[in-house]
Amino acid sequence: KFNYALFGNPVDHSKSPQIHNFFSKQTGLLHTYTSYNVLLSNFNFSLSDFFQKDGLGANITAPFKEEAFSLSHQLTERAKIAQSVNTLKKVNNECILGDNTDGIGLLSDLIRLNFIKKQYSILILGAGGAAKGVIFPLLSFGCSIFILNRTSLNAQKLVTQFNKYGKVNVFDPCLSSTKKFDLVINATSKNIEKKEDFFPLSCISSHTCFYDMNYQFDNTPFINWCIKKGYKSVSNGIGMLVFQASHSFFLWHNQFPETDYIINLLNKNY
Ligand code: ATR
Repeated sequence: KFNYALFGNPVDHSKSPQIHNFFSKQTGLLHTYTSYNVLLSNFNFSLSDFFQKDGLGANITAPFKEEAFSLSHQLTERAKIAQSVNTLKKVNNECILGDNTDGIGLLSDLIRLNFIKKQYSILILGAGGAAKGVIFPLLSFGCSIFILNRTSLNAQKLVTQFNKYGKVNVFDPCLSSTKKFDLVINATSKNIEKKEDFFPLSCISSHTCFYDMNYQFDNTPFINWCIKKGYKSVSNGIGMLVFQASHSFFLWHNQFPETDYIINLLNKNY
């Protein structure tokens, strides 16, 4: 039995089990994939227990990605740079390897949607864990990044973490009132409703695309806001979720599953 799992709090509404079960059937690599909703103080214990028994790999979701980073025995380069881990794999029967597939998952979906090109100027809204996981792959692709956050100090911290890998700056609308962005990515928490706008509308041009890293049963507040404004190139984060899962699957099994079918299916049921 090949045993994989998701650890987080909460995990009830996660689509990861459905996605991994689909990948398993589609590739014939049969495994079990269980969700564990663990108490904040219990993560270390639950994870050790899982890997000591028959666990071979895990996905880690909020709020444990930074703890998973600290608990990993070895790290991939991209996990080291992000300082955050969403995928674990048992290697040589004892060592736990930590990886981060969130950024490559987002980049893969932006490429699928034709939302990104090298040299694009990207505005990221938010400077929490979700933003941290995706900045490095976007910089490596050749884009420049501006971060706009409620607490500017948190945006500055991310700039300090990532500026050795490419062009990343805090976005100050007062100083750059003529700046236009090719892509706006929402990396703030999903339920934020805003009476005011999410960002200054002066930085939008007719070809700007909008991506929400969140997904939920119906449209997120950010997607609803984009629709209300009449923006056309708008996407939720379901594709990112499927692609990060496909890169985790690749780390575990050395094989990429097919992704289009499950993205369309989840979007239809959404
Ligand atoms: P995650 O790990 O999912 O990114 P997080 O670390 O709590 O979650 O970060 C959430 C992000 O949403 C942060 O950038 C946060 O801004 P602060 O750094 O100022 O806390 C942002 N955020 C949360 N609630 C917000 C609100 N009501 N308005 C604007 N930004 C908000």
